[in-house]
Amino acid sequence: MRAPVAVVILAAGKGTRMRSARPKVLQPLAGRPLLSHVLDAALALGPDQVHVVHGHGGEQVAAAHAEYPVHWVEQPEQLGTGHAVGCALEQIPDGHRVLVLYGDVPLVRPQTLAGLLEGDGLDLLTARLPDPTGYGRVIRDAQGAVVRIVEEKDADPEQKRVDEINTGLLAAPAAELRRWMAELSADNAQGEYYLTDAVAAAVTEGLPVRARLADDPGEASGINDLLQLAEVERAYQYREARRLLRDGLRLVAPERFTLRGRLSFGTDCAMDPDCMLEGDVQLGDEVHIAQGAVLRDCVIEDGARIGPYTVVEQARIGAGCQVGPFAHLRPGTVLEEGARVGNFVETKAARLGPGAKANHLTYVGDAEVGARANLGAGTITCNYDGAEKHRTQIGEDAFIGSGTQLVAPVQVGARATVGAGTTLTSDAPADALTVGRSRARTIPGWQHPGLTGRRAPLDDGDETSASGGAKEE
Ligand code: UD1
Ligand code: MG
Repeated sequence: MRAPVAVVILAAGKGTRMRSARPKVLQPLAGRPLLSHVLDAALALGPDQVHVVHGHGGEQVAAAHAEYPVHWVEQPEQLGTGHAVGCALEQIPDGHRVLVLYGDVPLVRPQTLAGLLEGDGLDLLTARLPDPTGYGRVIRDAQGAVVRIVEEKDADPEQKRVDEINTGLLAAPAAELRRWMAELSADNAQGEYYLTDAVAAAVTEGLPVRARLADDPGEASGINDLLQLAEVERAYQYREARRLLRDGLRLVAPERFTLRGRLSFGTDCAMDPDCMLEGDVQLGDEVHIAQGAVLRDCVIEDGARIGPYTVVEQARIGAGCQVGPFAHLRPGTVLEEGARVGNFVETKAARLGPGAKANHLTYVGDAEVGARANLGAGTITCNYDGAEKHRTQIGEDAFIGSGTQLVAPVQVGARATVGAGTTLTSDAPADALTVGRSRARTIPGWQHPGLTGRRAPLDDGDETSASGGAKEE
């Protein structure tokens, strides 16, 4: 029978090199804390116990992971990875196999970890890296057997040339690990108790030590600074993009794609470069998302097209809708089938009925727009009086002329027309034209000062002043 498994995740380090007030393991990878990724990999193994060693920013780290079934262990002083494991071992009975993971090594996959649990001695995960700088090196004897790990800071030039690195991840029996950790010395370049000294201890005792090379060295990437975080983010995103391509999502530039959540999609969906998806995004069939779109928690139904640089948050976009370019659909927006929202249009808590249109420079907030209604350029729902929000209702087939302000609460009836430039403060009835607009007057022969020669033309590029002579300079 397999020994019960206790996972220990080391997450107490400050992460000084990140230069951030946030604890390192709360730095985001694909929008979630580094530690969440490690916890997910750990829990996928179905372990009997999970212990997270925290120190710096401990409450914050625990609060961000309140839903995880883990035991939090405090390491009051960060005396090294060996000391951290020692703190967790106080809670782990003999007879368990202990799997040590690092909170700053987030890409490791459960199947790789399962390999470390198969043995009964000390099993290490190692990797070959083109640039091993900064990592502990795996030192082998002439027969190729692992002898010990040497940290970068303690390594001599010859050891630094070794390209097989310690990922930090290992599995060992609890009783042995407890004994080794109790015997560690901090007599090294960093004055710390190194977990990695367990390897030399196991070799001395003659316990089997096995180093398993990770198939994908990217899994072993540790994050100590922002450059490594950025590189791991791109590696993670590229892995996701390749998975989505294999599942049938047409990504024009897989290396320029970011997913911070979950995405589902139907057939013939395509996405141009630089799109960013967050939360839960659901696409139907034949949905096209153009360059630079940001989609957060939304449903986009069959055949809808999202134009370039559009932002959609907590919205539902019906079949065949066209949105953008440069549109902003805020929470509570519902576009029914075939509706169109064009450039520089913002919507919020608004429902546009089937075939309704707001194509240019419009704000639709707290509004209900009937089927096929047309909102002209520059239509504004004035929904906020400074204290409360009010609703605007527009009937089906209504036509709202350009530059109209709808001062809510207000209703426009079905098939009504509201003339361009109207400030509507009371309801506009169905089947009628409502228009409120001051008449323009003409002053014949008037020339603006820049043309009359009576004044020097403005040459400072300021075209807004003195317009029509109405203002004195
Ligand atoms: C460690 C390994 C190194 C390996 C590298 C892989 C040691 C001595 N070195 O170095 O061989 O190549 O990881 O990424 O183990 N932590 C604690 N308490 C402490 C110190 C650290 O919980 O007192 C945690 C950190 O939060 C981090 C992990 O342990 O999650 C590793 O610590 P870090 O300081 O990043 O070690 P490295 O220098 O990267
Ligand atoms: Mg590290």
